[in-house]
Amino acid sequence: MSLIELTNLEVTIGHKTILKSIDLTIEEGTVTAFVGPSGSGKTTLLRTLNLLQIPTSGRLRVGDTEVIGGKINKRDIRQIRNHSTMVFQQFHLFKNYTILQNVVQPLVLSGRFSRKEAEIIAHESLEKVDLAAFEN
Ligand SMILES: Nc1ncnc2c1ncn2[C@@H]1O[C@H](COP(=O)(O)OP(=O)(O)OP(=O)(O)O)[C@@H](O)[C@H]1O
Ligand SMILES: [Mg+2]
Repeated sequence: MSLIELTNLEVTIGHKTILKSIDLTIEEGTVTAFVGPSGSGKTTLLRTLNLLQIPTSGRLRVGDTEVIGGKINKRDIRQIRNHSTMVFQQFHLFKNYTILQNVVQPLVLSGRFSRKEAEIIAHESLEKVDLAAFEN
């Protein structure tokens, strides 16, 4: 089964249809880039993938969670966001936290890890990208 699947997805904001008839399948372990002119809807598409933007109609599946545009509840949103990550063009770290705490906190908030587990994962992740020396 593919990791992400969009079927006939539409996003309308106000009177403007921004995404129309989007069919897209993304396989696990692959890298996909969206390329297109400014205003063509790349950011809107990414925001829709984790339900920062609610699709008006169509189907969206991320992993095992499938939602139907226009019929999305808070539980769906939580489930999809628990299994996705987004790095924004402009991103913000918590300035009163250490680097380690910045990585730990989202893992704990996701409800999937205890603080101890999250600290181990965060430390290993920072090591992988050569940032462990800065974690405190
Ligand atoms: N919240 C919103 N309300 C109204 N229109 C919006 C909203 N968000 C996006 N749009 C419109 O949707 C269209 C697509 O915008 P989007 O930001 O997704 O494009 P983009 O491909 O990411 O552009 P860029 O390359 O400049 O980042 C644009 O016409 C934009 O004005
Ligand atoms: Mg954009």
